[in-house]
Formats: sequence, structure tokens, C-alpha cells
Amino acid sequence: MKKTFSALALALTVCLPSTLYAKNNVVVVATGGTIAGAGASATNSATYTAAKVPVDALLNAVPQIQELANVSGVQALQIASESITDKELIQLARKVNELVKDPKVNGLVITHGTDTMEETAFFLNLVIHTDKPIVLVGSMRPGTALSADGPLNLYNAVALASSDSAKGKGTLVMMNDNVYAARDVAKTINIHTNAFNSQWGALGTVVEGKTYWFRTSTKLHNDSSAFNIEDIKGDALPLVQIVYGSDNMLPESYLALQKAGVQAIVNAGTGNGSVPNYIVPTLVKLQQEGIQIVRSSRVANGFVLRNAEQPDDKYGWVVAHDLNPQKARLLTALALTKTKDAKTLQEMFYNY
Ligand code: DGL
Repeated sequence: MKKTFSALALALTVCLPSTLYAKNNVVVVATGGTIAGAGASATNSATYTAAKVPVDALLNAVPQIQELANVSGVQALQIASESITDKELIQLARKVNELVKDPKVNGLVITHGTDTMEETAFFLNLVIHTDKPIVLVGSMRPGTALSADGPLNLYNAVALASSDSAKGKGTLVMMNDNVYAARDVAKTINIHTNAFNSQWGALGTVVEGKTYWFRTSTKLHNDSSAFNIEDIKGDALPLVQIVYGSDNMLPESYLALQKAGVQAIVNAGTGNGSVPNYIVPTLVKLQQEGIQIVRSSRVANGFVLRNAEQPDDKYGWVVAHDLNPQKARLLTALALTKTKDAKTLQEMFYNY
């Protein structure tokens, strides 16, 4: 009798269609962007209106996602991502935090505009304490366009977010078949589907609904982060702004930010974070007056080396290491909720 039962159990296990296995529960949190965009014709791949299509229509357009997981949708925002401010970022993070705390939720997909997807992904990487997959996804073409990239990006994102192998890997960005770490991915091309890249490479890839991993991030994130959205009160972060480096700059660009009340300035300098000799005195004075100065670079790849182009130890300045200016702004703003010490801030740039 016992032998018969175990043979039957084995037979059932082997032949049960995968759709009968317990599928993970994935919530798609929609915020807008091109993936929710619509153009006038199928040939409008770059001319369209972002943030038009509601989350249910996004999910219904890719019914195959229901084979991967039990998928439901939430409309958190409906906005083109260039218009997301710290207020919306904090609001979204609180919604994400609420969802990951729900034991019935196994993973999240966040559909988002590509313009500032890297910022939102990095912020969630820093402030959401969970090992559940949080996957940001967007598209470079609206769903109305020929060869729209959104549907397959969404399918891949649900596959990733429903995969137990994605747990604990940090907040992820799923674009153009590649899985990127939130902390080092950036939008490096502003009009093609292979828009997202990382100088340190993708973490993995998704092909036909299966995730293949090739590396993991070495930086603090999510459960290992000292930051937590639950510690942020109100709907604003300490004010930090970016100045873009070029030739023929004006000290007034920085003094105007001081007047606006910034607590730190990220300088997107030329080369390895260089500062013109006629701007240095202004930044030295601002630091002495309590404004943190963070040297980042307008150059996409590499990292800013401390005490190389500028004597950072002497001036009490911070280097952004390999973080681009827009991510340096967010880490500096979060850091300022905990410290005003430049040395402590510098360590955070090496650890996150
Ligand atoms: N308005 C841009 C945004 O929402 C469109 C870019 C996109 O989503 O691909 O980020």
C-alpha cells in the first residue's frame, strides 16, 4: 500500500502542470512613464504622451504574466518620471514599504518612467528593509508603437519579481532583458531600447521567463542599510542640489543655491570631478559655512578619486566615488538625516 501511495505522489509531482504549483504573489505598482504611454500612431516610437494607460490595462495587455505569478495591480502615481520630486519619492517608498510588510506579497514590480528610474530604484535600495524582490521596469517606446519594448519588459520583470532567486539581491532594474543593480545602473542612451547600462555590468538576464545570475552587488542595501523610510518624517528630504560643470562657470550658480537653503551641493565636475580654479574659493567658503560639498563627475564611467583633482582632506570635501550626480544627491540627502560630518558622509559613499 505504502509503495503504491509514494509512486502515486511521485507521478503527480512529475506530471502536475506548473500552473497548479503554488505561484508567488506579485503586486505591480504603477507610477506612469512611457510604459504607460500612448502615441498617435504605431510609427510614433519616440513621440507620445507618457503616463496615460492605467495599471489594469498594462496587466491585461500581457496576460502571460498570470502564468508566472498571481499578479495584481496598484496605481500609486500616474506621472512622467522627470516630474517626480522627493515628495512623490517618499510617498512611493511608504507604499512599497507597506506592501513588502504584507506576508501575502512575495515580490513587487514598479512600472516607472525611465528618466529618473535610476533615482527611484537607488532610493528604495537604501530605505526599504526587505529581502523580497523589488523590480523597477519601464520602456523606451509606448505600448502603441511598432516593436514596443514594454510588454516583454513587464513580463520579464514579473518573472524576476516572482523568482525566489531574486531575494536579497537588492532593488533591481529590469530593462531590455538585463537585470541591473539599482545602485550602479543608469540611463545612458536617451532614445533607444538598450538605454540602461552599468559600467560594472548587469547582475544577470531573463530569457523566456527564467532568470540567469552572473554576479551580485557588494554594497549595502535594503536589510543591510542604516537608512529606513520609517525614520523619514514629513514629505521632504534635506535640500541637496546639483551643479553641472563646464567651462566658463559662475560662482553665482552656487551662491544662489546657498540662498535657496541647500544643505549640500553635488558638483558634477568635468573629468575626475574637477573644479575650476576660479570656483574653488566659493566652494571652500560654502563648506566653511556648513554646506557639504560632494565632488561627482559629469563623465558617466569611472569613479572620482579622493585627493586627486582637489585636496579634499584640506577642504573637508567629499567624493561621490562611482555614484553619478543624481544618485549622489539622494545619498547625500539621506545621509544628512543622520550626520553633518564629512568623514562619516565619505564612508557612506564607499559603503552604499
Ligand atoms: N517622460 C519620460 C519618463 O516618464 C519618458 C521616458 C520613459 O518613461 O521612457 O521618464
